[in-house]
Amino acid sequence: NHAFFLCVHIWAALCKYFHIHSEVDMWGSVRTSPSIGLTDEQKDFQKVAFDFAANEMAPHMAEWDLKEIFPVEAMRKAAQLGFGGIYVNPDVGGSGLSRLDTSIIFEALSTGCVSTTAYISIHNMCAWMIDTFGNNEQREKFCPDLCAMQKFASYCLTEPGSGSDAASLLTSATLQGDHYILNGSKAFISGGGDTDVYVVMCRTGGKGPKGISCLVVEKGTPGLSFGKKEKKVGWNSQPTRAVIFEDCAVPVINRLGAEGEGFSIAMKGLNGGRINIASCSLGAAHASVLLARDHMCVRKQFGETLSNSQFLQFKLAEMATKLVASRLLVRQAAVALQEGRPEAVSLCSMAKLFVTDECFSICNQALQIHGGYGYLKDYAVQQYVRDIRVHQILEGTNEVMRMIIARSLLTES
Ligand SMILES: Cc1cc2nc3c(=O)[nH]c(=O)nc-3n(C[C@H](O)[C@H](O)[C@H](O)COP(=O)(O)OP(=O)(O)OC[C@H]3O[C@@H](n4cnc5c(N)ncnc54)[C@H](O)[C@@H]3O)c2cc1C
Ligand SMILES: *[C@@H]1O[C@H](CO)[C@@H](O)[C@H](O)[C@H]1NC(C)=O
Repeated sequence: NHAFFLCVHIWAALCKYFHIHSEVDMWGSVRTSPSIGLTDEQKDFQKVAFDFAANEMAPHMAEWDLKEIFPVEAMRKAAQLGFGGIYVNPDVGGSGLSRLDTSIIFEALSTGCVSTTAYISIHNMCAWMIDTFGNNEQREKFCPDLCAMQKFASYCLTEPGSGSDAASLLTSATLQGDHYILNGSKAFISGGGDTDVYVVMCRTGGKGPKGISCLVVEKGTPGLSFGKKEKKVGWNSQPTRAVIFEDCAVPVINRLGAEGEGFSIAMKGLNGGRINIASCSLGAAHASVLLARDHMCVRKQFGETLSNSQFLQFKLAEMATKLVASRLLVRQAAVALQEGRPEAVSLCSMAKLFVTDECFSICNQALQIHGGYGYLKDYAVQQYVRDIRVHQILEGTNEVMRMIIARSLLTES
């Protein structure tokens, strides 16, 4: 018995040693540090987010992926740190931080689990939409529970027949007395089935974007149901399901903004969403660069460590350079959005396009540097690769980002 306790004791001490050690590695000694150029206050909450990622997420990220666990309790702990409504106003429970602050937090959190952080980012986007476009009754009804993550939110735009061409959506909302009757279905809804509050884009008018409105639909509303849980390559710590409306009656008082404003509200949410998703890619790329570096320092082939190969040194140098360049673009877009600058939409799209592509390539090269071990689920690098692959597809595909950037270039005066 005594020996057993001694073992536990030594093991705990070892874990503590290595944890502190890895924290120094992640934070202090790295030339690619994400704290460069930040204010002391930003460095403080960045550290809080990074510690949360290291202590409350990273130890579970493989299990959450393998067992497809939606980590409700861990997310509620994150909400206690203010991460449930980071850029929501404080009078309804939000943290009232800027878009840049938000990006810094999601970047740090995603080192611990990309999939969970990405869901938290969608939840934040929905809470922001209600805070920004809702009236005071709506804000007070929904935002406090969302900020505390006592309730969880989903963003419902995509349909089976309308993805990239989102403005062609068909889900209909017909006014009957003081309710809208919803008919139709949404595809690929993150959190769908497990979440409580659905921010739904639906058609109240004619064709095109001007006929779309935005309704908040609560779980338990008769006529609201869900498809089977999708089997995915990554993002496994959050469920993805179809959301189905069959004569689903939603009170008119649940409409955000005026009739016809829904598409504009949806796109405004996504501008921030794109920065957030790009930030989640940054965290994954940062973690992967460090994993690749550490592997290069211990793995020996041809009688020396991989770190002695100039080819791999150059590879690592390029990965680190692209990581830092990506981070600058995300942060510039975040500041432009915060300041409401005219180039913000374009910059958010550029950040999403460039950063999700480059960071996927960084993680994939980190996997390559691990050789066969990189392909094993015992090594974290494969999960970063799988989890960030979808960032090139959702919240507008990277082809759609090119359309937005080109349109704004070609129409500017
Ligand atoms: C895991 C996951 C979670 C998601 N979560 C959500 C969510 O929470 N809420 C939500 O509303 N949606 C969500 N989505 C949906 C996602 O936003 C869509 O999958 C995406 O917008 C693309 O739509 P699509 O799948 O219909 O592809 P399509 O629009 O059919 O596109 C197929 C391909 O063609 C390209 N393409 C299409 N048109 C053009 C063109 N004119 N020129 C050049 N290329 C073109 C696209 O870029 C893409 O590469 C999620 C998707 C996934 C996979
Ligand atoms: C909704 O769909 C059902 C089944 O297709 C139909 O019976 C009903 O009339 C529709 N309701 C509205 C308001 O369009």
